[in-house]
Amino acid sequence: MAEPILLAEQLRKTFIAKKGMGPKAVVEAVRGVDLRVGAGEVFGLLGPNGAGKTTTMRMLCTLLPPSGGSGRIAGFDLIRDQAEVRKRIGYVSQKGGMERVATGRENLLLQAQLYGMSRRQAVERVNVILARLKIGEFADRKTNTYSGGQRRIFDLASGIIHSPPLLFLDEPTTGLDPQSRSRVWEEVGRLHGEGATIFLTTHYLEEADALCDRVAIVDRGQVVAHGTPAELKRLVGGDTIALGFASADHAARARNVLLHSVKELVIDERALRLTVEQGDERLPIILAALNAAQLPVLTVALSRPTLDQVFLKLTGRSLTAAEPAEDAA
Ligand SMILES: Nc1ncnc2c1ncn2[C@@H]1O[C@H](COP(=O)(O)OP(=O)(O)OP(=O)(O)O)[C@@H](O)[C@H]1O
Ligand SMILES: [Mg+2]
Repeated sequence: MAEPILLAEQLRKTFIAKKGMGPKAVVEAVRGVDLRVGAGEVFGLLGPNGAGKTTTMRMLCTLLPPSGGSGRIAGFDLIRDQAEVRKRIGYVSQKGGMERVATGRENLLLQAQLYGMSRRQAVERVNVILARLKIGEFADRKTNTYSGGQRRIFDLASGIIHSPPLLFLDEPTTGLDPQSRSRVWEEVGRLHGEGATIFLTTHYLEEADALCDRVAIVDRGQVVAHGTPAELKRLVGGDTIALGFASADHAARARNVLLHSVKELVIDERALRLTVEQGDERLPIILAALNAAQLPVLTVALSRPTLDQVFLKLTGRSLTAAEPAEDAA
């Protein structure tokens, strides 16, 4: 990887709650997290509620002092060079942070001017962003009249107004309808295309899979796995190919053809289920072998492991099952 734009080494955060039930109300929210994100990557932090994603992100944005460990953004230290770090990042918090009594446009103009744009530059930039995110039609209403999804898209707008090279998005799509979610994805894709680095957290595994170049899975304040989504899914042990034949005889003959070249093979009447590495590459070879043996294949299905299966394998729990009522709240 090129010079990392984000580096975390053994980051820790321990909260000491003042009004705890017991004598020791200590929460070890982040317990020694190492991260390296290369410039231009889309990087995802995945994990169940309370895993420490927001806490990690807030430390990386200099909003929360770490209890231990260290971190650098574009070479600047999180603690010693806070001002330099802040100039280079945008942050869209999980809760959002807009002034409720102002309009969306006023919020964005303020934000742009805080980052040093002149009034004229700010007006221009705000118009560009409003058009890009297709939110111009309610920009001049007070934000306390916005729906949850509208507010979320405005939060995103305020995070990117100054074109930061590194953008932190904490659950950018939680609670959004499919259309708004895809608008956020589009924008993430565009920023990525322009060379920005995006560090995001999400509960939606298929979203992480589709958007992220690399992901880290966190559980109970620690990274339990990291890599590209494809690498992580390989941990599960392979893809499944299901083949359907015209008769049980064909299926049995196909089994004999394939027996020695696949990891696992299950026959069920007229169907065969194979477990293979790199199913997408193996599938054409398997079909060619069956064709050569004059065994016509009637149906084919390739299924790949999901990130949820990865989480299940690593922690013994399902991430989707652990996905709690927060969305509904
Ligand atoms: N200010 C605080 N004081 C005490 N405990 C805290 C504080 N902030 C967070 N925690 C605790 O730290 C742990 C990690 O919280 P965090 O918000 O980082 O999780 P998360 O992975 O972002 O979860 P979610 O998916 O629900 O957003 C949780 O147990 C939480 O209750
Ligand atoms: Mg969070």
